[in-house]
Amino acid sequence: MEYIEFNGKKADMIGFGTYKIDPVTVIDAVSYALEAGYRRIDTAVMYQNEQGIGKALSEAGIDREKLFITTKLWTDVKSAEDVEKSVCASLERLRTDYIDMLLIHWPTENNIKVWKGMENMKRKGLVRGIGLSNFKIHHIEEIKKEAEFEPEWNQLEIHPYFLNGETVEYCHKNGIVAEAWSPLTRGEALKDPLIIGMAEKYGKSAAQIILRFDVQCKVAAVPKSTHKERVKENIDVFGFSISDEDVAAIKKLDTGIRRYRDPDNHGF
Ligand SMILES: NC(=O)c1ccc[n+]([C@@H]2O[C@H](COP(=O)([O-])OP(=O)(O)OC[C@H]3O[C@@H](n4cnc5c(N)ncnc54)[C@H](OP(=O)(O)O)[C@@H]3O)[C@@H](O)[C@H]2O)c1
Repeated sequence: MEYIEFNGKKADMIGFGTYKIDPVTVIDAVSYALEAGYRRIDTAVMYQNEQGIGKALSEAGIDREKLFITTKLWTDVKSAEDVEKSVCASLERLRTDYIDMLLIHWPTENNIKVWKGMENMKRKGLVRGIGLSNFKIHHIEEIKKEAEFEPEWNQLEIHPYFLNGETVEYCHKNGIVAEAWSPLTRGEALKDPLIIGMAEKYGKSAAQIILRFDVQCKVAAVPKSTHKERVKENIDVFGFSISDEDVAAIKKLDTGIRRYRDPDNHGF
C-alpha cells in the first residue's frame, strides 16, 4: 500500500467504495475487502448501508486504530444540531466511537452552518478529520474563509474521461486530499482501447491501470465491487509503475466534461 499524507496524518491511497451496495450484500463485500487488505472504507448516510458495514467491521475484529472509516452528511443536514444527530446515528450504525473522516456529501446553501457543526464534532472527538465532497474551488474558498479547522479531504468525480484537473490542483496546493469517486467510470473506462492496450502491455487489468494512474497522480481512490476477485484486483496496484509517457497518454482521454452531476446544480 502507498499512503497519502495530509495535515500530519496519512491514509491508504486505495479505499473501498460502497455506493449502491445494499445493506446485506455489503456485509460480505466489506468482509472480502478487509480480507484483501483494504483498511479504508467509504460510505455515506445516503447509501443506507452503514449498519451492514458496522457488522462486517465488528465481526472482522481488526484493531480500530488500523481502520479508516469515511462517512458523509446528506443534504438534509442543515445546522450544527443536525450534524450532531447525524454523526451520533452513524456512530451507532457503524459500531464505533469515532469517524476518521466526515465529509459534506454535496455543497448546499448551508455549508458554513454544517461546517461549524463538524468542527464541534472534531472538538468532541467524535470525528478525527473533516472534509468535503463535490466541492468546487469556490465552495472550498467559502469554507476556508470561516473555518477554524480547514478541510482535509475532497472526494470528487475523477476518472480518465474527467480528471477534474483544476480542483485537484487546488486541493494539492492547499493540503487537501483529492480523492476519485467512480474512478472506473462505473465500468465504462474499462472498455477504452487505450486502457485495454496498456493493460496488455503491463500484464495488468484495465482497472489496475486506471487505479495505478490515480496513485501516480497523487489522487486517492475508492473503487467499488461486490465480486471477490475484482475487490482483490483493485487494491493490487502497488508492485508496478506506469511510464510517464503512458500517464501523459491517459491524461489525453480527459474530455473536461463531467459524466455525472454538476455540484453547482446537483438537484438534491
Ligand atoms: N461522493 C460522491 O458523491 C460519490 C459519488 C459516487 C460514488 N462515490 C464513492 O465512490 C465509490 C466508487 O464509485 P462507483 O461505485 O460509482 O463506481 P466505480 O468504482 O468507478 O465502478 C464500479 C463499477 O465497476 C465494476 N468494477 C469494479 N471493479 C472492477 C474490475 N476490477 N473489473 C471489472 N469491473 C469492475 C463494478 O461492478 P461489480 O460491483 O459488479 O464488480 C461496478 O459496476 C462508490 O462506491 C462510493 O463509495 C461517491
